[in-house]
Amino acid sequence: FRSTKRIIIEDRNHIKDEELKEAAGILRSGGLVAFPTETVYGLGGNALDEDAARKIYAAKGRPSDNPLIAHVSCVEEVEPLVKEIPEAGRKLMEAFWPGPLTMIFPKSEKVPYGTTGGLDTVAIRMPDDPVANRLIALAGVPVAAPSANTSGRPSPTTADHVWQDMNGRIDMIIDGGPVGIGVESTIVDVSSAVPAVLRPGAITMEMLEEVLGEVSVDPAILGPLSADVRPKAPGMKYKHYAPKADLTLVEPGTGADRESGAEQVTGAEQKTGADRNTGAAQETGLEETQLQAMIRKVRELSREKIEAGYKVGVICTDESRDCYTDGEVRSIGARKSQASVAHNLYALLREFDDLGVDYIFSESFPKDHLGQAIMNRLSKAAGYKIVKV
Ligand code: TXA
Ligand code: MG
Repeated sequence: FRSTKRIIIEDRNHIKDEELKEAAGILRSGGLVAFPTETVYGLGGNALDEDAARKIYAAKGRPSDNPLIAHVSCVEEVEPLVKEIPEAGRKLMEAFWPGPLTMIFPKSEKVPYGTTGGLDTVAIRMPDDPVANRLIALAGVPVAAPSANTSGRPSPTTADHVWQDMNGRIDMIIDGGPVGIGVESTIVDVSSAVPAVLRPGAITMEMLEEVLGEVSVDPAILGPLSADVRPKAPGMKYKHYAPKADLTLVEPGTGADRESGAEQVTGAEQKTGADRNTGAAQETGLEETQLQAMIRKVRELSREKIEAGYKVGVICTDESRDCYTDGEVRSIGARKSQASVAHNLYALLREFDDLGVDYIFSESFPKDHLGQAIMNRLSKAAGYKIVKV
């Protein structure tokens, strides 16, 4: 057992090098430091040091064939790590760095296989967070950093989350307050002919298409993979982000399902709380009948489990909060602000872990813009258990 030092950044917008000097020294000498980024907290170690990579895998309990992202503080630091920077990569750097975008490049000799999980490619990201950026610059080495959670737990969005998982396992935690975005970076493979999105994030498909024109999507993003298909991002094959409870999503179906759902809004049913107008429909790409059918299903499924004696959690939204009476009801954010939903997602899954619920039933979200990342994380957390209404 080692004790983990915790430091607090006083003012994120006026960081003094003094505050980060010790942390940078730990990274340079092969130790591990957790730090804030704009997406989630990262667990950092020297990306050029295989021993540091080994320590990261051990601290997380993560399989060592799952490669790490190398974080840099400026564009000049990319060149020594890669064989080449394809045109698409340059365009995306210019448009979105520093920011929540990771790119896959062919790796140079300098990057050890211990960091890339044996792959000939390397994932690189330049974070926008001022603490992360300053720390990497001061360390003077690229910083390998997976999310700072125990493997299989939701990613940490506060220093307390990191503390829960990593106290005693790493050298230092830098508390820079809660993160801004709340879901991990978008990953784009620019080493292939047509750039491919391997993990959706805050740099959305729509944003990427605007810069690149054609972008493809790795099938691993969209649904469960059959055993014989290999996702391009090895991490996508693991059941990530898993809450302890059994999570089920309720999703509005396609045309035909929808109509039959709408027909059920009749008679006595109409007087239930679920049929209150949520006022969220127009702004969120869902029709009011779809929203109400979804809410009614979440209520029905949770009530069944409560009656069977289980402790049940409900994931609703600010707009639908008043429609629920039974179970541990928590809002994940406002439907009209996808950013608020992404921001609260992992903290809410952790809260349900702490509450010790047996089942969670959740509303779902349209998959446009940031909704693709939100539904990717929720679907994975649910092990793709999705009920259509
Ligand atoms: O927002 C983020 O990206 C955060 C913060 C800390 O920067 N980091 C993060 O790292 O989410 P991690 O290790 O939890 O997820 C990295 C993902 C994994 O799914 C991994 O398989 C994929 O990136 N990856 C890394 N290197 C790769 C490579 N060379 N080819 C394909 N996928 C790669
Ligand atoms: Mg992770």
